[in-house]
Amino acid sequence: MVKKNACVFISGKGTNLKNLIDKSRDSSFPIKIKLVISNNINALGIKIARKNSITYKIINTKLRNYETNLINILKFNKISLICLAGYMKILPKRLIRKFENKVINIHPSLLPKFKGLNTYSKIIKRREVKTGCSVHFVNEKLDDGKIIIQKSFFINQNYDENYLKNRTQKLEYLAYPEAIISLFRSKKFKKKT
Ligand code: GRF
Repeated sequence: MVKKNACVFISGKGTNLKNLIDKSRDSSFPIKIKLVISNNINALGIKIARKNSITYKIINTKLRNYETNLINILKFNKISLICLAGYMKILPKRLIRKFENKVINIHPSLLPKFKGLNTYSKIIKRREVKTGCSVHFVNEKLDDGKIIIQKSFFINQNYDENYLKNRTQKLEYLAYPEAIISLFRSKKFKKKT
């Protein structure tokens, strides 16, 4: 199988990045992580990229040419899929248009519920009985694009943010690879890559 090049965008710990790198070692997994982009020079995920000999770039979103540079880097590396994994910046509209239907994100809630930041505290405040994670296409609105896959669990009465995060992230490590596999199985997506 010829793997397609993927780029993972991170801002923090990078546990989803690590999971995708591990999965991509499997010859039947459709992508190779070719590039890691971070807007945060201190992101722990950068160490993961380095340890796995994956090219990484730190971007400064305040620079005037950053959008053009970023698009050029992605094109130069022949990136077919962009996976956002804890990337805490809004992507430039131009990039989303250029990579239409090729940018996906993982979010720690059952979208369309609880878009945006502080998801776990919102879930607790609302006394939800069920939660989970969503992998979705990225469009120009926040946490809004078409959902590719969701995984859920029922919440116990005695829970805190840590508990929610642990359980949700365990599901994320299953959901993100599954979503990528299902994308590459879809004829419509394959045609465009
Ligand atoms: C994930 O839980 C994801 O849902 C959210 O950001 C978190 C990133 O975690 N978008 P990590 O950096 O992959 O550990």
